[in-house]
Amino acid sequence: MGIRARMRAATAVARRSDRRHRRDLDLMATSDNTSIDHVLTTTRAVRKRLDLSRPVPRDVVLDCLRLAIQAPTGGNSQGWRWVVVDDAEKRAGLAALYRKRAEPYLGGYRTLAPGTANPVLDSSEYLTEHLHEVPVFVIPCILGRLPETPTNEEGAGFYGSILPTVWNFQLALRSRGLGSVFTTLHLAYEREAGELLGIPDTVTQAALIPVAYTVGTDFKPAARRPVEQITYWNDWKQTS
Ligand SMILES: Cc1cc2nc3c(=O)[nH]c(=O)nc-3n(C[C@H](O)[C@H](O)[C@H](O)COP(=O)(O)O)c2cc1C
Repeated sequence: MGIRARMRAATAVARRSDRRHRRDLDLMATSDNTSIDHVLTTTRAVRKRLDLSRPVPRDVVLDCLRLAIQAPTGGNSQGWRWVVVDDAEKRAGLAALYRKRAEPYLGGYRTLAPGTANPVLDSSEYLTEHLHEVPVFVIPCILGRLPETPTNEEGAGFYGSILPTVWNFQLALRSRGLGSVFTTLHLAYEREAGELLGIPDTVTQAALIPVAYTVGTDFKPAARRPVEQITYWNDWKQTS
């Protein structure tokens, strides 16, 4: 092919790519932001409204994990691994480890203000009691361990390469009528949980995510401090 023909071909490729890019942008502009915002504002920590009687098909978990791993990782390392537990005996073992930590931990909060209404505590106690009945647990893992006293940079790079994908997973579940809650209490017994599941001690467990369909799907945005009060412009505490 001569130089002119090659240039014509290259121009045609660039034009096609430009048209594709513009079409993608148009699609983004016309897609339904409201439903995305709805998922972002109503993905709650679900405990009492997990449907303990409805099985969760493995395919649904895989679909949500497929979406989850579109998340970023430091240096594109993708050191994530997912241990999905739907075996009843293993869930019971993990729930017992969770309870061993949760009972004294939540009990401590209970004694701080006995008799005071505390919906988050009530809901956390409910989860502790019923955890083994939740049909699926997902344990997000990351290859490697942090050093004993990590620098902030090391800590941020390490957990920053697993937590975004976990939240993606929880959003994907919500968009399909399932609920979840990010929990960390079983990590007090991380090694015991690792032994139960064959997770080597060179790998870090980041959480335990109980997963189930939700009872109803009408979740609401949570009360949060106005963003204007907690956003600083150019200087610490400069809110305008
Ligand atoms: C780092 C982290 C650890 C958490 N650990 C637990 C836990 O062990 N058990 C639990 O029931 N909830 C746990 N949660 C859930 C929080 O309690 C929950 O996100 C919070 O109450 C806000 O609720 P919302 O997400 O519905 O607004 C944890 C959340 C985060 C981000």
